[in-house]
Amino acid sequence: MQKKEIRHKLPNIFDNAASGKWNRSLIIVIDGPAGAGKSTTAKEIARRTGFDYVDSGAIYRGFTYLYLLHDGDRSRLLKLLDDHDLRFDFHVTDARVFHGEREITEEIRSDRVNDRVSEVAVMAEVRDAVHQILRGESLGRNVVLEGRDLGTVVFPDADIKFFLTADPAARARRRYDERIGKGEANISLDEVRKNVEKRDRIDSTRDIAPLKKADDAVEIDSTFLTFEEQVTRILEYIRNTPVIKNVIKK
Ligand code: DC
Repeated sequence: MQKKEIRHKLPNIFDNAASGKWNRSLIIVIDGPAGAGKSTTAKEIARRTGFDYVDSGAIYRGFTYLYLLHDGDRSRLLKLLDDHDLRFDFHVTDARVFHGEREITEEIRSDRVNDRVSEVAVMAEVRDAVHQILRGESLGRNVVLEGRDLGTVVFPDADIKFFLTADPAARARRRYDERIGKGEANISLDEVRKNVEKRDRIDSTRDIAPLKKADDAVEIDSTFLTFEEQVTRILEYIRNTPVIKNVIKK
């Protein structure tokens, strides 16, 4: 009953975003560890608010694609950073990546890219380039961005920050179900769990931009929440944040 009421009220507020009735653009960031459900959540928030969804991981993946195209040669990748032919198209829930004319949205999710993306994401020069792209993407429009270091490093002044977590067992279970759902038969839950724990260790202990909750981020632990409950909680928080009310034109 209560959920229905919230759903009913939300469009009245967020329609202002779609119709350009905000005084300025808003930046909402969602950070968190692998498998916490950031992508699906950020996309749903974008869909329900009319904001554009920006996937920072897709940009690291795009550069990893270039890196592999140049035989994993770091110096060649670094030379390309100022003049590359990658294009990112972030629109509401759609995050598409192009290399020249060719769409590589699917390819950047391949095992080949998965296996090497952390090598690329630790290069300081790459991180600087990605940060510039992200800041450019957020200019003049309302955005929901997902990543690891958005609230701490890239957008320390973001209007609203969320840090989405879930305990490792729950995250492993979700990843496992997702992969089984995609038709992968030869994986075990134990293997997926070890992988999640390994990525957590790498992400939170790396020297450069480690995964860390911003002091002013709202932490949402989704271990015992359904997807709908988690999204409702975030939307309610957004709706009740003073900055939202202040940007609506009088
Ligand atoms: O979210 P994802 O799995 O698509 O991210 C791909 C990689 O990029 C992952 O190794 C972490 C890294 N990444 C990062 O270092 N900082 C971000 N803001 C987003 C992703």
